[in-house]
Amino acid sequence: MFKSHIFKDKNKLSPYYVPKRLPHREKQINMLLSIYGDMLKNIWSAYPRFIQIVGAAGTGKTCTALKFGEIIVDMARREGINLKHIYMNCKVDGATRYVLFSNLVRKVTQKISTKSLSPEEMIRQLIDYLRFEETFLIITFDEIDYFVQMNPRERVIYDLTRMPEIYPGEPIPVIGEIFIARSLKWHDLLEPGEKSTLGIGIIEFPRYTSGQIRDILEDRVEEAFQPGVVLDETLDLISDITANPPVNGDARIGLEILYYSGVLAENLGSSRVLPEHVRRVYSEINPTITTEDIMSLDKNGRLILLALVRGLKANKSAYISLRDLRRFYGIVCEEYDVKPVENFEEHVQDLIYRGIIDMKSLMEIGISGATLVDLERFLDNLLRQLES
Ligand SMILES: Nc1ncnc2c1ncn2[C@@H]1O[C@H](COP(=O)(O)OP(=O)(O)OP(=O)(O)O)[C@@H](O)[C@H]1O
Ligand SMILES: [Mg+2]
Repeated sequence: MFKSHIFKDKNKLSPYYVPKRLPHREKQINMLLSIYGDMLKNIWSAYPRFIQIVGAAGTGKTCTALKFGEIIVDMARREGINLKHIYMNCKVDGATRYVLFSNLVRKVTQKISTKSLSPEEMIRQLIDYLRFEETFLIITFDEIDYFVQMNPRERVIYDLTRMPEIYPGEPIPVIGEIFIARSLKWHDLLEPGEKSTLGIGIIEFPRYTSGQIRDILEDRVEEAFQPGVVLDETLDLISDITANPPVNGDARIGLEILYYSGVLAENLGSSRVLPEHVRRVYSEINPTITTEDIMSLDKNGRLILLALVRGLKANKSAYISLRDLRRFYGIVCEEYDVKPVENFEEHVQDLIYRGIIDMKSLMEIGISGATLVDLERFLDNLLRQLES
């Protein structure tokens, strides 16, 4: 078997891996633990608490919520309480309220069939089920801003925060809901009633500084790389790039640079990961679109993005018109032998909401942040990822 001289375990650099320790997020985890940990003492008379987590991209919101979930479930187990943490990512689990709620139910139990149920009935049956099973839930709704933007009229916050009113005065098995967003802008789309039940419990996630990024990366280097392979200077450089504009402290990008620098070092037959590898990788990746962003797109989204990249390359420009984009999309669909979507504009809108593409006007559609770096190289790289 091939034994890497660079990597010990590449998986430890995956965006989906939650490491054992989350340096510089101890305070946030402890806040969550103090809020929900107290409720365990009196779980039968607990009222649900809603908490919002707010912070920029890559500030550790998702991994902190997941880590907190692990810890609190464990604490509950030791008290003899059956508590589950359910993680919902609205970008993945919920195109509409109907889909979101049926996925929520499905993650809790296979015993409820949601097929002919309305969203309201799903929630009621879920509550009945939990009461019967004496099971409690904390639910995290990640990227809630995306959901509310996409479905401003579905009033999902209303449903989610009014669960206690289904059985007024009785204990409610959903003891907590955590809503994660990049900013508070989504509040503008809420009704006053929704805003008030949501409350003002907000935990902020500041951007990481260079030193903090370094601590985070150091842990990962130990888990993912062979000893002594990543030089101190290399880590310093990645931390500085990551902490400064345009990346602005996004740990995901720091990890991605670390990963690709390792891959490059390996491919070049180097026995160390050097600053020059970092520089080369950095000039090729775009600081705003990550592999994770691309992974989260469905087929149509990817094809439209591919069409955009082709169009930008063909025009040798940072922008193309919506009409050109549609034309390139038609060509790409033919090439991949798929039927073009009818609601093309909606799919483009989705890519805009996701922050992947930018639309200044109907004549100017481009890739977010792509003017910041060497566009040609970046597009080639993106093309490789999309085509594979
Ligand atoms: N304090 C930390 N310690 C270790 N790893 C971290 C820390 N903060 C973030 N990471 C890692 O950085 C990556 C991005 O973190 P995460 O996905 O939690 O960010 P986020 O705030 O949810 O970003 P987004 O708004 O884009 O969803 C993940 O791979 C995560 O494991
Ligand atoms: Mg996240």
